[in-house]
Amino acid sequence: MSLTNSVISRFQETFGAEPEVVAYAPGRVEVIGNHTDYNMGPVIGAAIDRGVALAMRRIEDPVFRFRSSSFPLVEIGESDKPLKGASSWANYPLGVYNALIRRGMATHGGFEIAVESDLPSGAGLSSSAALENASGRAFSKAYGVELSKKELALVGKEAENEFVGVPCGILDQGVSAFGEANSLVHIDCRNLEFSTVKLGGDYSIWIFNTHKKHTLIESMYATRNAECFKAVEQLNAAGLSVEFLADVSVKEFKELKDRLDADVAKRAEHVINEIARVNSVRSSLANGDVSSVGEALFASHDSSRDLFENSVPELDYLVHILESMPNVIGARLTGGGFGGAAMALTTEAFSNEYAESVAAAYRGKFGESPEVIRCGIGGGAKLVEFAPLSD
Ligand code: GLA
Repeated sequence: MSLTNSVISRFQETFGAEPEVVAYAPGRVEVIGNHTDYNMGPVIGAAIDRGVALAMRRIEDPVFRFRSSSFPLVEIGESDKPLKGASSWANYPLGVYNALIRRGMATHGGFEIAVESDLPSGAGLSSSAALENASGRAFSKAYGVELSKKELALVGKEAENEFVGVPCGILDQGVSAFGEANSLVHIDCRNLEFSTVKLGGDYSIWIFNTHKKHTLIESMYATRNAECFKAVEQLNAAGLSVEFLADVSVKEFKELKDRLDADVAKRAEHVINEIARVNSVRSSLANGDVSSVGEALFASHDSSRDLFENSVPELDYLVHILESMPNVIGARLTGGGFGGAAMALTTEAFSNEYAESVAAAYRGKFGESPEVIRCGIGGGAKLVEFAPLSD
């Protein structure tokens, strides 16, 4: 059954009625631009052909009901406070609803929502941004308001920052909103400019999910975020006048890096060089120079491992094995890090057999297999036309 049909049937089973609106939003792969987004640098990602489908209807009672395939029913009254424990997955749609209320783009009253996903969770493929963007698309239709792709991404990011409490940048929501088949999404995070770059159909993205998750993953992300802003403070104390790491050139940084605390200097060096790598990948893509793209991906991983220190041995090993494989253009950890997944950009000739030999090497070392997923590059968040299912 398609994801759309599954979500409609889950909606019918749970709420005994037809949904009014169905929306879909994809997950994403971070291709390059590790922790550059909240430092106002550029980033490149790809929307993948897996995601979240959401069905909803408005109801008269002032009650919100949420149901997903993995979690029990959540039923609450209108709330501008995040939920805790097993209900906390509902914070993504709830956060989007509250962001729309603040903009005067939603009205009070109740609703019922069902959600289905074919994204593996914990693989760093941004199931949360997909849920936020699917919610934003569905709410905008249900409340009769226009939401551009850019507003959709900003509303999702606001939900994540203000409601869920994660200080992420615009990468996940932006790529999920602007994705196009066979294209990568480039985001200039400072100017909030979104564009697509054709990759062509001759390449694939593979995900190798370690299923490792640092126990402090969210606080580690927040710590790295804070270290980047500390670097800005220390660079300003050393004589610069900047607001974000993206304002600092590679040359300025080289001159001043000894004036920073050692750890803070490493984080800043990663981000500043990573921004340069994203810029070079963008030009290489425009010139069809795919092998330079690959080199930048490997260099990005080395920098995550050594400077940003957001890798783990499992990811380092995967990237190391992938580097020695034929038909692999580049590979690196993808997303926040501290566990999660490595991505590889490959030619079409990289087959399941090659992927299996990567998995076998990993199994030999760590005693378990990584989850292997071949991703197509798909379109962005959208409303889905649907006909009621016959029962
Ligand atoms: C997570 C965040 C993004 C971005 C990446 C790291 O995916 O949600 O905003 O910061 O980590 O590049």
